[in-house]
Amino acid sequence: MAVKLIHISLILLSLVSTFEACPKCGSMDVPYPLSTSDNCGDPKYRIYCNNGSLEFLSAQGFYYKILSINPSSYKLIIRPPSIQNPMCQSSDLPQGGLLLNDNSPFNISTRNTVMLFNCSDNILLSPLNCSSNSVCKLFEEQSVEGSGCRNTLCCSFLKDASITSHRIRVRVGGCTAYTSVVEMRSNAPFDSWNYGIELQWAPPSGDSHFRGH
Ligand SMILES: *[C@@H]1O[C@H](CO)[C@@H](O)[C@H](O)[C@H]1NC(C)=O
Ligand SMILES: *[C@@H]1O[C@H](CO)[C@@H](O)[C@H](O)[C@H]1NC(C)=O
Ligand SMILES: *[C@@H]1O[C@H](CO)[C@@H](O)[C@H](O)[C@H]1NC(C)=O
Ligand SMILES: *[C@@H]1O[C@H](CO)[C@@H](O)[C@H](O)[C@H]1NC(C)=O
Repeated sequence: MAVKLIHISLILLSLVSTFEACPKCGSMDVPYPLSTSDNCGDPKYRIYCNNGSLEFLSAQGFYYKILSINPSSYKLIIRPPSIQNPMCQSSDLPQGGLLLNDNSPFNISTRNTVMLFNCSDNILLSPLNCSSNSVCKLFEEQSVEGSGCRNTLCCSFLKDASITSHRIRVRVGGCTAYTSVVEMRSNAPFDSWNYGIELQWAPPSGDSHFRGH
């Protein structure tokens, strides 16, 4: 009986410690299972608190600022990389864009409308909307950030289930810049666009809390 009780309390203790959320980073809460250090959260869901700013690290080593987190829907939104003018290059072009590890618990959600800029002609072969009334033309013509991409070939697409959920690719000789809008409604006015790349994470499996027993 006593042995059983000790065993149960050990399990409870380990549950409590694995469920411990990390301290705030700057003004942002870090909800479980997101983890800014080995001592809190679930280390599989690693993010970074750099100088009071919460950041997501891609597989290629590029840091993206986390703009918001919605723990109840297992989602967070990162800021698209800036586009450098006048070359029309995303700041993560040297890294090939956003890449997540295949075994990462995070993936790119299906609510992102991705726009690619300064694309070469061969991109037209793929199933993208590169027509002259694609939403990416609005970004080129109306945003300051897109001004370096004006009059380049651009395309847009919904990052839905038919497309890999682990990368947004840019490269010299392909498309050299991109941005993304979360939950773009059709005909939504340009100045209401919600810029971001929404990532979702797989909820921690119940099993993992008992790992090591
Ligand atoms: C850290 O953040 C503060 C305030 O936001 C800023 O003034 C400072 O330059 C930052 N330091 C580094 C190393 O980024
Ligand atoms: C491209 O997007 C525009 C604007 O949303 C739409 O009017 C047009 O039908 C789309 N074209 C194709 C080929 O999907
Ligand atoms: C577009 O991409 C090409 C290489 O693919 C690059 O040489 C050029 O500087 C880029 N920018 C513009 C605005 O064309
Ligand atoms: C992305 O991750 C979520 C949560 O694990 C999963 O339900 C969804 O199927 C994944 N999407 C793709 C396209 O793999």
